[in-house]
Amino acid sequence: MGINLGDTFPNFEADTTVGKIRFHEWLGDSWGLLCSHPADYTPVCTTELGRMAKMASEFEKRNVKMIALSVDSVKDHHGWSKDINHYIGEPQVQNLPFPIIADEKRELAVQLGMLDPAEKNSQGLPLTARAVFVIGPDKTLKLSILYPATTGRNFDEILRVIDSLQLTACKKVATPVNWKAGGECMVLPNIPEDEASKLFPKGIRTMDLPSTKAYLRFTPQP
Ligand code: BEZ
Repeated sequence: MGINLGDTFPNFEADTTVGKIRFHEWLGDSWGLLCSHPADYTPVCTTELGRMAKMASEFEKRNVKMIALSVDSVKDHHGWSKDINHYIGEPQVQNLPFPIIADEKRELAVQLGMLDPAEKNSQGLPLTARAVFVIGPDKTLKLSILYPATTGRNFDEILRVIDSLQLTACKKVATPVNWKAGGECMVLPNIPEDEASKLFPKGIRTMDLPSTKAYLRFTPQP
């Protein structure tokens, strides 16, 4: 099983560190970022959740609700949260600024295609991979990335792609390689020249190419 871009994200019910939730109702009108983790009390996951906690205000600014998932219990999640806060230098803080789902029966891990048969735990069960799902306010999947257990994610990159997703959801542009918020954007190839000049009053820079095709069109971020 798994989920493809454009699919409606399952409206699952789950136990979490903030109680039982139904995913769509919990999201409300926000964007969502769901990150899965192989297990509690593991080193790479601890650094990742610590980074998520440190960056919580950046995600909040963008109207993104973060949620984590691991196959351990809510009790373990609460105990582990204290370790994570200790690791990021906030030992007095008990909870994390986002819930953690307790997927003890691995139902969500199976439904969302997150189990990695190549990585097994001490009981020989496949570990949950490090999945990243970005869900739009319309509850459809906008982005998914899957990392193996041994490679920690880069949350600056996750923030960068959210900036691109949110920009391209409302403006008729695409973002080029290594784009960062505020950088030059690309005019979509299907926009004719006369329409493009009206849509992008800040100007369009079209690069001359050996093919003579006018498809490399740059414009300041609208
Ligand atoms: C970790 O989070 O450090 C980890 C978890 C499972 C396998 C490998 C690394």
